[in-house]
Amino acid sequence: MMSFFDRWYLGDASLKYDPDEELTKLFNEEGEGKVLDIGCGRGRNSLYLASLGYQVIAVDVSKYAIIQLDQKAKLQGYDIEGIVCDIGEFSFSEKYNIIVISNVLQFILKRVEQINIIYKVMEYITTNGIIFIKHPLTVMDLESQCFRNGMLNRFFTHSEYNWEILLDTNKLAGPEKDFEFNIFIAKKS
Ligand SMILES: C[S@@+](CC[C@H](N)C(=O)[O-])C[C@H]1O[C@@H](n2cnc3c(N)ncnc32)[C@H](O)[C@@H]1O
Repeated sequence: MMSFFDRWYLGDASLKYDPDEELTKLFNEEGEGKVLDIGCGRGRNSLYLASLGYQVIAVDVSKYAIIQLDQKAKLQGYDIEGIVCDIGEFSFSEKYNIIVISNVLQFILKRVEQINIIYKVMEYITTNGIIFIKHPLTVMDLESQCFRNGMLNRFFTHSEYNWEILLDTNKLAGPEKDFEFNIFIAKKS
């Protein structure tokens, strides 16, 4: 049976197509190095980072997302490797300079799987590399739990690596509102 996301991308897939604003603020000059975009969808962030010169590996469980991303990348002449894979089964074998997880964690229904992804990316980011995570604080119609109350921040500050937390809107936000997004950006030092 076709998955929810395959059906979604075959239909309208009405997600906005501009890259995340916070990502464009952080990366706005030509750069080099490897990017891993986890749950890349049709690749708005992948395409943006590729346009700056990064070599992008874009992973998504939906083959139709990757087909659309491949078509766009080809048209625009960007270096993006699209991979159809559940991130829980992705074999991390090299380190990345940037890892992006935008609007994905809420679809990983088991907390233990969300946490595994966080630990994987902490390990597979280079020194001085940047992890960009964006997720809603609450999702009414999904059974997943989101990271709230500075939880992501605690994972990073208590990890075996040292991090500079460049942005954590959850910590800054004060009382949480429904549908508010947490934007968490950490640099490995
Ligand atoms: C709301 S979309 C966000 C897409 C993109 N990151 C963006 O911000 O435009 C969520 C994406 O996560 C992908 N996804 C969900 N669960 C996944 C998993 N376990 N492994 C890989 N991708 C997954 C979906 O296929 C979908 O493309």
